[in-house]
Amino acid sequence: MARHWADFQYEIYLNGMAGAVPRLPTDLTRLEELAEQRLGPGPVGYVAGSAGSGSTARANRSALERRRIVPRVLRDVHERDLSVEVLGRALPAPLALAPVGVLSIMHPDAECAAARAAAGQGVPFVLSSASSTPMEQVAEAMGDAERWFQLYWPRDPEVARSFLNRAEAAGFGVLVVTLDTPLLAWRPRDLDQAYLPFLHGVGTANYFSDPAFRAGLAKPVHEDPNAAVTHFVGMFADPSKTWPDLAFLREHWDGPIVLKGVLHPDDARRAVEAGMDGVVVSNHGGRQVAGSVAAADALPGVVEAVGDRLTVLFDSGVRTGDDIFKALALGARAVLVGRPYVYGLGLDGRPGVEHVIRCLLAELDLTLALSGHATPGTIGPADLTEGPG
Ligand SMILES: Cc1cc2nc3c(=O)[nH]c(=O)nc-3n(C[C@H](O)[C@H](O)[C@H](O)COP(=O)(O)O)c2cc1C
Repeated sequence: MARHWADFQYEIYLNGMAGAVPRLPTDLTRLEELAEQRLGPGPVGYVAGSAGSGSTARANRSALERRRIVPRVLRDVHERDLSVEVLGRALPAPLALAPVGVLSIMHPDAECAAARAAAGQGVPFVLSSASSTPMEQVAEAMGDAERWFQLYWPRDPEVARSFLNRAEAAGFGVLVVTLDTPLLAWRPRDLDQAYLPFLHGVGTANYFSDPAFRAGLAKPVHEDPNAAVTHFVGMFADPSKTWPDLAFLREHWDGPIVLKGVLHPDDARRAVEAGMDGVVVSNHGGRQVAGSVAAADALPGVVEAVGDRLTVLFDSGVRTGDDIFKALALGARAVLVGRPYVYGLGLDGRPGVEHVIRCLLAELDLTLALSGHATPGTIGPADLTEGPG
């Protein structure tokens, strides 16, 4: 019998009889406010902040909220199974932790704590290129649990090749290539505080530990950290890349490749033509293009264009179990969640991330059941209607 994630609520009520209530709210939309109160303004601004006035982040939320579920009744939902197959992998639920850089600004245990929490629940952890912990160390913390590597495609092909070799050797099974960040966007919350951790050598662990990167330095990192940071800044992204360049990744990565940051159906078609295995419909949580189409509004067009030819994943704005239900109904195979788990990490370390995963999946399980479904496979556009706003 598959795990009933909804049972988490009974665990909470039973603990309550022994006098314990959850340390973090079970309504995950409240985590941001709590993080604002308890954590430092620099790190919280970096995580909560978005591009420009924040209009895209708000649009992400309202595009999900505007869509309303139409529950069905008298269907057998006694036994339920949230498991899905994604990119040839059997996952216990349609959820992965999104790649988020520099987690050490939120908690000293950083990526290892989040990765262990994901591993404990069987949820894939997507490690950012900009992590504060080298990929090999995160892999070690995860045992043989499912892990994916997110590539910020470095300008230097030797460093790119080295990252791919290292990730493959460390057991990362899927390559997620983020394409919406060829430049850092205009982010007023960071600008107003002049806060950018990378300039202090935080979030550069994969680079500073990389032999190909280090080969480009005149002195070892510890002898001239400023030169290492300058080298990183010049290397981090490459705005001159175009579609034919994807052949390089195909050549150097054996497993599935997923392009993250696809919003236009034509770009999704090009991903198919380039032999990619999946796309993540995402606007980077509203952090790149202010005034952008909401991710949930872009999702149906991408699904219609390529949904039968590659795996369509979704992120940007997911905060609750019903948000996941809606993304699946719009055609996503699974979703990635970003900020909520990062707040969970900042507020309570590994248990905080576990809390976020279990709340999301308990709520998804209940939403599924209470809407008349026993598996994600039966959800579709007919389960949604559009509310007034
Ligand atoms: C603080 C922060 C750092 C991020 N760093 C990365 C990153 O290193 N690589 C990447 O592909 N996406 C990164 N993202 C984007 C997430 O992967 C994801 O697309 C986004 O958080 C989803 O939106 P949500 O936060 O509304 O769930 C970051 C997001 C945040 C909030």
